[in-house]
Amino acid sequence: MRIYLLKMQRYDEARAIGVLLCRILHRNRMVSEKKRKFAPRNRRLANNVLKKRPVWVFAAFKTAKNYSFFQIIGQRCLCHPAMSRKNKLRKFAEILSFPNVYECYNVQEPSLVGANMEPVEMKGVWHRDHFKNDHPITLELACGGGEYTVDLARRFPERNFIGIDIKGNRLWQGAKNALDGGLHNAAFLRTRIEVLSAFFAPGEVSEIWITFPDPFPRESKENRRLTSPMFLERYREVLVPGGLVHLKHDDPHFFRYSLRVIESDPRCTLLYENQDIYATPMLYPELGIQTLYEGKHLAAGKTIKYLRCTIS
Ligand SMILES: C[S@@+](CC[C@H](N)C(=O)[O-])C[C@H]1O[C@@H](n2cnc3c(N)ncnc32)[C@H](O)[C@@H]1O
Repeated sequence: MRIYLLKMQRYDEARAIGVLLCRILHRNRMVSEKKRKFAPRNRRLANNVLKKRPVWVFAAFKTAKNYSFFQIIGQRCLCHPAMSRKNKLRKFAEILSFPNVYECYNVQEPSLVGANMEPVEMKGVWHRDHFKNDHPITLELACGGGEYTVDLARRFPERNFIGIDIKGNRLWQGAKNALDGGLHNAAFLRTRIEVLSAFFAPGEVSEIWITFPDPFPRESKENRRLTSPMFLERYREVLVPGGLVHLKHDDPHFFRYSLRVIESDPRCTLLYENQDIYATPMLYPELGIQTLYEGKHLAAGKTIKYLRCTIS
């Protein structure tokens, strides 16, 4: 496996390699038909192109067996020459070799690759193929840097934890901490949470933590809130009957919304709710684990809310 960071000085060069990458990725079913054609994907990239700033293209190449050419098996395109962007690309490249990370490149046709981009099928076999034990599995959704995944894995060696987020550079931090700490009971999955049931069999998950998900305050984005009825249904598909769901959040509107959804769902039972976990002694010590966003909210003087419920 070889990782390349290519700096393109001109848009047409970047476009040429983008077209090539996307064609090959499409042939390997790693990008959808919609994304087959390469185009600047975001405003920042478009801006850099207009301002004729260099464009960075990241590509992972794997030497094809018995062939003397390279097969391109993964790509990300970023657009800023600044060091932070390059670090992000390095993290994307490094995470490909981590044995505790699985990535889904195409949510339209969900499939996973594991270390060194080897295709893997994990649904229903996380115990056998990854953890090598039959301990219960807890997911941390929207895990960002995976603070809960790593800390819980350290506190509860008799349980397994999987942090899930769509942002690879954030996952990198959690995965690296888990590897450095020798935590064999912590793994990470880069995917959209919408397609959870593509990667977990019914009843394969015992518990779910949702830590400071984006609140999506606009009504039109309700379906993207991780506690919307649509998402609760996704969790029900993979949880054991009566599986626990924990939510930690700072935003009072989002928290009220989540309570409303849970209380109006006859298959959910609210077990505990706390509007300010730091105001009184903590009932559950693991509530004291702080994530990156929690630290920011506390510094801004916000109160941290918590609820736990079951889903049947
Ligand atoms: C506000 S951050 C919180 C990160 C972390 N839990 C913390 O507290 O520091 C929300 C995270 O949710 C992730 N996210 C939002 N919607 C998602 C989705 N549908 N699928 C996967 N990840 C998602 C984002 O990538 C982001 O890392």
